[in-house]
Amino acid sequence: MENSDKTARHPVFAGVEMGIGTWAWGDRYFWGYGQNYNQSDIQDAFSCAVNNGITFFDTAEVYGIGQSETMLGQFCKQVDVPIQVASKCFPFPWRLNRRALHRALKGSLKRLGMDKLDLYQMHFPYPPVNIRTWMSGMAEAVHAGWIGAVGVSNYNRAQTQLAYDALAAEGIPLASNQMEYHLLNRKIEKDGLLQHCLDLGVTVIAYSPLASGMLTGKYSAQNLPGGFRSGRYNHRSLSIIKPLVDLLVKIGADHAGKSAAQVAINWTICKETVPIPGGKSLQQVEQNIGALGWRLTDEEVDRLDQASDRVLKTLGW
Ligand SMILES: NC(=O)c1ccc[n+]([C@@H]2O[C@H](COP(=O)([O-])OP(=O)(O)OC[C@H]3O[C@@H](n4cnc5c(N)ncnc54)[C@H](OP(=O)(O)O)[C@@H]3O)[C@@H](O)[C@H]2O)c1
Repeated sequence: MENSDKTARHPVFAGVEMGIGTWAWGDRYFWGYGQNYNQSDIQDAFSCAVNNGITFFDTAEVYGIGQSETMLGQFCKQVDVPIQVASKCFPFPWRLNRRALHRALKGSLKRLGMDKLDLYQMHFPYPPVNIRTWMSGMAEAVHAGWIGAVGVSNYNRAQTQLAYDALAAEGIPLASNQMEYHLLNRKIEKDGLLQHCLDLGVTVIAYSPLASGMLTGKYSAQNLPGGFRSGRYNHRSLSIIKPLVDLLVKIGADHAGKSAAQVAINWTICKETVPIPGGKSLQQVEQNIGALGWRLTDEEVDRLDQASDRVLKTLGW
């Protein structure tokens, strides 16, 4: 990657190398909350993160239909360290103006039990409302003191530039763009969005850094994931992915027994993004935190890049 020291990260990311994704917190439909994990597992996951210095949490009003925000808000009240909370506004088709954004924000703040969000992100760039209108609503929320920073998510290069320019006209920086990014999805690297964001000083938050768990080594052609993940990650794709997972395991072994998940997350950090791996238990969060405090060599990053290129080509992704 080119050197991107031209523009510094937004202060909301000061000292943030990694955050925790909370989509699965309270989400019954996609992740099966209440079946094999429950609120006490999530509480333990939160405590483990905070006790280990991870204080950036990503949520959204739609996660668990509000449950994720509610739980996160409850947990935050139990600790006396500052927590950075990032949430998102979903551009439902019935939300047609800036006031609708403000109502959504107030709903999130109420569920979280907070007066102010550290980072508020527009979840998707969907029409009909144009990006300028949403960014104008975001700028008003900053000026009103309801949010500290503005982010977007799933915005392509042109959409990111539009959001950046609209906010700049109000004297506000675009803090982040949250995009899917991992060894099985490198679109933002290939199409130039990642470098463009780095050049603008827009932090890329890498979502699904473990490819929804596929890069942990836990799933294989013999142990397929169920539910919503089974469409993309089936017998064929998991067979093709295996050499990449084997390389993650091998490189991890060379780093005093780091796990495949830790190597996969470290790779996203080496690419100058802030990963937000999802964690539903103390064990998962504890393991993922082990992605910090060490670094892959450039040569290892290259080997992973090449292995991922080969796998992606075979998959046709
Ligand atoms: N902006 C957006 O549109 C968008 C979209 C998706 C996600 N996100 C954000 O990104 C966050 C992370 O994405 P994600 O949850 O989809 O995917 P992910 O972080 O790639 O994978 C998380 C899942 O992998 C498994 N896992 C995590 N750590 C593990 C470990 N150490 N060992 C074994 N298994 C482990 C768990 O599922 P199992 O135990 O069930 O395998 C966990 O729920 C979300 O929580 C959300 O905050 C944003």
